[in-house]
Amino acid sequence: MPKNRKKDGVGVGLIGLGTIGTGVARVLRQNGDLIAERMGAPLRLIRIADIDTETDRGVNLDGIVFDADAQGLVEDPQVDIVVELIGGYDVARRFTLEAIRAGKHVVTANKALLALHGREIFGAAAAAGVDVAFEASVGGGIPILRSLREGLCANRIHSVQGILNGTTNYVLTEMEKTGESFEIALKRAQDLGYAEADPTFDVDGIDAAHKLCLLAAMAFGVDLDFNDIPTEGIRHLVPLDFEIAAEFDYRIKMLGIAKEEPSHPGRIEARVHPTLIPRSSMLAAVDGALTAFLVDGDAVGSTLYYGAGAGEMPTASAVVADLMELGREVCRESAGRVAPLSYPQQNLSSPRVLPLGELQGRLYLRFEVVDLPGVLSHVTGGLADHGIGIESVIQRGPSATGEPVTVVVWTHPSPEAAVREALKRIDTGPEVLSPTRVLRIEEEVG
Ligand code: HSE
Repeated sequence: MPKNRKKDGVGVGLIGLGTIGTGVARVLRQNGDLIAERMGAPLRLIRIADIDTETDRGVNLDGIVFDADAQGLVEDPQVDIVVELIGGYDVARRFTLEAIRAGKHVVTANKALLALHGREIFGAAAAAGVDVAFEASVGGGIPILRSLREGLCANRIHSVQGILNGTTNYVLTEMEKTGESFEIALKRAQDLGYAEADPTFDVDGIDAAHKLCLLAAMAFGVDLDFNDIPTEGIRHLVPLDFEIAAEFDYRIKMLGIAKEEPSHPGRIEARVHPTLIPRSSMLAAVDGALTAFLVDGDAVGSTLYYGAGAGEMPTASAVVADLMELGREVCRESAGRVAPLSYPQQNLSSPRVLPLGELQGRLYLRFEVVDLPGVLSHVTGGLADHGIGIESVIQRGPSATGEPVTVVVWTHPSPEAAVREALKRIDTGPEVLSPTRVLRIEEEVG
């Protein structure tokens, strides 16, 4: 049995006592005995730094040094592990790197930081011989990163697909259920605390793309540039999209998709966008603010991970699990057991992301046009000119000549580039009122 050098406890310093930070303090208080039993030594939260030292967070902080001195915390010799829960880029990056340079392990929930500065942070950690753990950055309380990094590491992963963002899943579920507009559903999400006052990161897919970067790294050993991931949000969806999807037994979910296809050697498929998926698929059953991940591996087959992807206690659950993993390393002086991204830095490759134009699949096209003789043939003829087969055409609207009307087309599997070319021409027609909306249809989502 290796010697436990920290029987008296592993020192933890927490920077950022917001919602998640408070949850971390709460879990450490609530489950401290159990954690010590499992680790063989207690995790001791000895210091907290936050600019707001006044607000009562409703958690017992007795015996903890609580001030605004993050630098002092990072340099404190009693602190073995620094938890970064500041959020954002600059300050979080600075203290993460300072902690690493000071020889501390770091736990963070900051996917934006890692998606943008991961190379620098993981490189610095490798050089300093410390670890960076970030389970809470993807999927909140669901141990999806640990599953990819360890549980599934014997597999060649074919795909990781999921509802990566609870906020957008809540908004889409509400739009479908109530027939309300995006704006009204978003307002409800904000009132209930599921969406931020500035919802950009969630509703425009940026948060999901940050997460997909980390998932793809773990699943395929790829170092993707976040800016290379095609990302599309949910603002343009309208209640009619959900109605028509339902008539065809589909639901609309915001998916992050990463795939390694033998037919695309040296390239990786990675994309985030609202997607029509069959009602019978596993991901279609995930509603409200919940999230889910579907991972397909060559040995294991399909596996599904489901639960709360955000929120104080679920996210704190993941942060504290990381603290325990690193705490065990501190006890045994055994850093670097598993590389943070599952692959050692030097084994990460940088494949090109497959351009969306090269995708081949069925598409849902929503045209806003004026109901005039010949408009339907303008649409269908324009598609036919580019070899796009049509599966169904639906027209919805007041049905009066000269009035605006919506035409929805479901295509047969088609090269997306050809569809985009066709739309360029169709959308210039005088009877077309606004740019045509395109939704991808995915059949294989469990
Ligand atoms: N708003 C994010 C979500 C928070 O709902 O998934 C966790 O990243």
